[in-house]
Amino acid sequence: MVLLAGAGLLLAAAAQAGEPDAARRAELGLLLTHDCGSCHGLTMKGGLGAPLLPKALAGKDLEALAQVILDGIPGTPMPPWSPLLTRDEALWMIDRLRRGGLHD
Ligand code: HEC
Repeated sequence: MVLLAGAGLLLAAAAQAGEPDAARRAELGLLLTHDCGSCHGLTMKGGLGAPLLPKALAGKDLEALAQVILDGIPGTPMPPWSPLLTRDEALWMIDRLRRGGLHD
């Protein structure tokens, strides 16, 4: 599956716990743009997937959104990312999306 091919490279680092380090944060940023962006739009405005802009995520529960990333949404194209991401990494990605800091 093409979407996961690039993300496979991240697998080795996925076992670590806690706040991702700088190198891993750079990888997660690429994952957001390339893999998540392929469905949610390069600028997260939405496409096949729902918009992930700060406005769209405001008021939603951080933990619940991280769980959506890890489990996916059965019956929709949203895949589970738990083979590639830890819970801390999913939380970090949501935090970053909520701050809109996609390209820092
Ligand atoms: C193959 C397409 C696809 C990919 C790749 C994908 N998503 Fe999704 N995502 C979806 C779809 C479709 C939905 C909406 C499902 C529904 O509720 O109908 C969704 C929903 C979500 C939601 C819930 C949004 C909300 O407001 O509740 C989050 C968060 C999310 N995706 C994050 C991500 C992240 C982070 C990535 C990358 C690690 C990612 N997605 C990759 C298709 C995708």
